[in-house]
Amino acid sequence: MKARHTLLTASLLACVSTAALAQVQPPKPAWMDTSKPADQRAAAAVAAMTLDEKLGLVMGYTDPEQLMKEPDDIVSPAIKADVKANHIKGSAGYIAGIPRLGIPAQWQTDASIGVRVSGMERTALPSSLATAASFDPKITEMGGVMIATEARASGFNVFLAGGGNLAREPRNGRNFEYTGEDPLLTGRMTGGLINGIQSQHMVSTMKHWAVNDQESQRTTVDATISKPAMRQSDLLAFEMIYDLSNPGSVMCSYNLVNGDWACENDYLNNQVLKDDWGFKGYVMSDWGAVHSSAKAAKAGLDQFTGYPCCGHHGAFFSAKTLKADIDSGAIPMSRIDDMAERILWPLFAKGVVDNPVKVGPIDFEADANVSQKAAEASLVLLKNEGDLLPLKAKSIAMIGGHANKGVMAGGGSSGVTPVGGNAVPGLEPKSWPGPVVFMPSSPVEALKAAKPEATITYISGDNIKKAVALAKKSEVAVVFVTQWMGEGIDNPLELPGNQDALVAAVVKANPKTIVVVESGGAILMPWADKTPAILEAFYPGARGGQAIANILTGMVNPSGHLPISFPASNAQLAHAEIPGFHKPDGIRVGITYDEGAAIGYKWYDVKGFKPLFAFGHGLSYTTFATSAPVATADGPNDVSVGGSVTNTGKTAGAAVMQVYVSPADWQAAGWEAPKRLVAFHKVDLAPGQGQNFTAKVDPKLLATYDETTDSWVVKAGVYHVLLGQASDNLPQSVDITLPESRWSAVH
Ligand code: BGC
Repeated sequence: MKARHTLLTASLLACVSTAALAQVQPPKPAWMDTSKPADQRAAAAVAAMTLDEKLGLVMGYTDPEQLMKEPDDIVSPAIKADVKANHIKGSAGYIAGIPRLGIPAQWQTDASIGVRVSGMERTALPSSLATAASFDPKITEMGGVMIATEARASGFNVFLAGGGNLAREPRNGRNFEYTGEDPLLTGRMTGGLINGIQSQHMVSTMKHWAVNDQESQRTTVDATISKPAMRQSDLLAFEMIYDLSNPGSVMCSYNLVNGDWACENDYLNNQVLKDDWGFKGYVMSDWGAVHSSAKAAKAGLDQFTGYPCCGHHGAFFSAKTLKADIDSGAIPMSRIDDMAERILWPLFAKGVVDNPVKVGPIDFEADANVSQKAAEASLVLLKNEGDLLPLKAKSIAMIGGHANKGVMAGGGSSGVTPVGGNAVPGLEPKSWPGPVVFMPSSPVEALKAAKPEATITYISGDNIKKAVALAKKSEVAVVFVTQWMGEGIDNPLELPGNQDALVAAVVKANPKTIVVVESGGAILMPWADKTPAILEAFYPGARGGQAIANILTGMVNPSGHLPISFPASNAQLAHAEIPGFHKPDGIRVGITYDEGAAIGYKWYDVKGFKPLFAFGHGLSYTTFATSAPVATADGPNDVSVGGSVTNTGKTAGAAVMQVYVSPADWQAAGWEAPKRLVAFHKVDLAPGQGQNFTAKVDPKLLATYDETTDSWVVKAGVYHVLLGQASDNLPQSVDITLPESRWSAVH
């Protein structure tokens, strides 16, 4: 009896302890099983959701104050309360999580150069165009890691970064947010940034999809362009970003493309992105860029984000609207499931679910060093006659550009509030897309610290006579010129105000004048001929002043190369006028991109124009010699190119080898222009040191797109492979012969 009792007790105990254990450790639901692939986890999570939970994922919110004014049947009181409690004040957007299933909220922050939350001080990288000038994807990747670390420590898990629009229109006011005029350069540089961001368990977008190449009338302009031209230019750049970095999300743009809004454009979102490329993530709208519910959902939009911002047209993805569409059969339930799965896929695939964000401390000093390193790799020495730089002078006049306070930054949703605050507050425009921000990193102060033996005097440049007098009595003059760009506004290429006159007068007074340009993109330089030294600094970021000073003194050897061509005059532009330029947004205009894929240097080559400074141009304080290129071809899908470069000067420096391909007959090959960049490689070299490189060429860069068969085609023939250090300096070439070849554009 006793034995039976003991046995009973033991088995009872076993039951109890198993039950207790079961209570403590319930079996993990399938979507939390980290051994399963992300798409299976996403599908399992969606299968466990109610309709309301699914619909909660497809609509994102911003600006709680405005949201509270929305009718309750459009935005439910529960959503309002959740947004009010959890949206990070001043940030871009918020989408509630599903706590019962362990799905986190999505906290979204802008943008490509750092965390942008009004009033929250964070570290800014140089502008994206600046870091593209490094021609070194490791630089953008390192920057991506840095800004993502700050974003996570600030509570964000979705980065609205990854600008990839080509600088088709040199006056586009957002060119500073993008990475230049060439698909390969953009692919690798923006791809590097996204890789860096997503390595930190964040989702990054690539944006603004697509052909969002002007800011004038950005929410109403219809871009007309042929499919082959689009596939070989704007979309090719995005395809290369996608191939390299697999972004979790793609942000569709405000404009129309060939008659359909980008966010309800079946060709862009379904046929190209999802069907051809196999994109598994979600298409999110730019803020307020949605114009329909069923049409947009069926055309591939997965998430309407940023409601109720930016002159939105209606709450098209609200639960009320979508439920009505489901009931009427306008949207099949399977599409709602697909939208939810696509939103969840990157949350699993990029580690957002498994590595919840945690607000924490930020090492601003370390992050500023990253930004400085990026700037130092990116500034472009355009001209240096008579080796005026590095500076040897003992008396230096520094003029203009608020260089005594800091360096300029671009405006709009990518504008980061700098650590230490705006160095030059109060400039116009003060409101959106302002304020004009200067990073508190003064080139004058940095130069004074680096050259304590020199007499360095700063003057604003507002009064040209005074600037001239100072320049005359100094050994050298350094003039800083600035061109501010902000989202939503295109810019003329002329410098604003009296700056051209200032430079001309100072150069006349002192022929030893160096001009430092802080610009969003290309500018005209009517004084370039007479000016012996020009340094293009773009918007050089949090430590830009230090980086400029280090390059001026030679502490750092410049190694940036232009990611865009600088036109010699407006007459060289593909479009004399931008429709709707400097008129209030909202006028329905059209732009026909009849230059097709011939963007930037390709356009100059087609036209036989000589730009002021060519794509890929950039000087160093040392000299480099490139060998003859080497190229092997085993059919178009297996072409390798390369060569070697040697530092032939006395200073350590970094060379950028650039390889272009040019068909013997480019028109017969069907190309848009005589040559295309197919490979580039940056390498640090000590004096006398040399290095080889080889790279495999993406076959799309040798091909044209055939719309009727959705395929890429290479025409048989002879192709010259050119190696050099700029698109207009390619002294060496070798020929390859390619057979006719065709392959499907479906990945
Ligand atoms: C911009 C996007 C940005 C979004 C959220 C829009 O105005 O075009 O680039 O991500 O706002 O701030």
